[in-house]
Amino acid sequence: NAAEKGGYEDFMIKEIHEQPKAIKDTMTSRIMAGQDICLDKITLTKEQLENIDKIYIVACGTAYHAGLVGKMAIEKLARIPVEVDIASEFRYRDPIITDKTMIIVVSQSGETADTLAVLRDGKKKGARVLAITNVVGSSVSREADDVFYTWAGPEIAVASTKAYVTQLVAVYTVALYLADLRGTLSKDEIEEIKKEMLTLPEKAEKLLSDVSEIQKFASKAYGEKDMFFLGRGFDYAVSLEGSLKLKEISYIHSEAYAGGELKHGPIALIEDGTVVIATLTQEALLDKMISNIREVVTRGAKVLGIAFEGSTKVEQVCDEVIYIPRTLELLAPVLSIMPHQLIAYYVAKQKGCDVDKPRNLAKSVTVE
Ligand code: G6P
Repeated sequence: NAAEKGGYEDFMIKEIHEQPKAIKDTMTSRIMAGQDICLDKITLTKEQLENIDKIYIVACGTAYHAGLVGKMAIEKLARIPVEVDIASEFRYRDPIITDKTMIIVVSQSGETADTLAVLRDGKKKGARVLAITNVVGSSVSREADDVFYTWAGPEIAVASTKAYVTQLVAVYTVALYLADLRGTLSKDEIEEIKKEMLTLPEKAEKLLSDVSEIQKFASKAYGEKDMFFLGRGFDYAVSLEGSLKLKEISYIHSEAYAGGELKHGPIALIEDGTVVIATLTQEALLDKMISNIREVVTRGAKVLGIAFEGSTKVEQVCDEVIYIPRTLELLAPVLSIMPHQLIAYYVAKQKGCDVDKPRNLAKSVTVE
């Protein structure tokens, strides 16, 4: 009802605007300036970690997309090999699981059948299982060896928004914790990342305070039949999630591609007027992305860029640019996903869709 929506039109837009608080709550008592990272009751020792030779992150849907960011963050910061997989694929492919394996399951609800099956099977085979979940007392939280709760609060809209950003905070925190234990980062380097993480709620607040550009874009783009998302590295992971949001609630066909894959097929689909949403937050990949954008523009694409403030190079190739507050490239997904969520939301609203309850979808898939 209206009171539950706190003055917002839908739960989804309410939850999008709750993200600064959700991010903050998830960091509280874990990420503090000048203090060691605290992972609640998780007591992985240096010796136990030395025994781990591989991490799998396994999840479904949006949580899987958070896992993709987790892989990149853990490999970059803690230098442990990480594989990410979709739970319904992982469980049936006879993965190599030993007592040297760590499995991180990510699940907002903590009840997704495939994810739970992976957790159970992993434990049986001797893996150490860490659950990242939003629901206290959920099946996943009860059965995992260790639990990291995201403090997003109840998420009602079927399309996940605030749970996703808190899952990102969770994987960064775990990556930093592992890096600290292994000594792959110096205390100063860890401190710098923590300091920047603590600024994210304020930056998210700023980003969400003006949605007019995105509304304008949505009012032009809502009639599209297809949209494409492009990115590299962290921006690719965010593009996948942005594309999922759009198809979930607006029913517009959309696909996300890694910039470098463009030539291997998707470019064949670009026609005059095709809408492409490109995310460009990774400096080392910027020139590569810019040349990808040129390739689609030449074929008639209309490109919306999502980039950090001050990244003016992007304007030279994109028709329009949505700027987001600057942060570490590592942490960019927390902010760069928000314009994507808002694009999906306002496009769906323009089309008159029921954004909170999209057709055919369930909040939690507890049956296979
Ligand atoms: C459903 C929901 C998605 C969610 C996925 C995984 O498909 O609609 O929003 O990402 O399940 O759910 P979980 O609760 O395991 O994160």
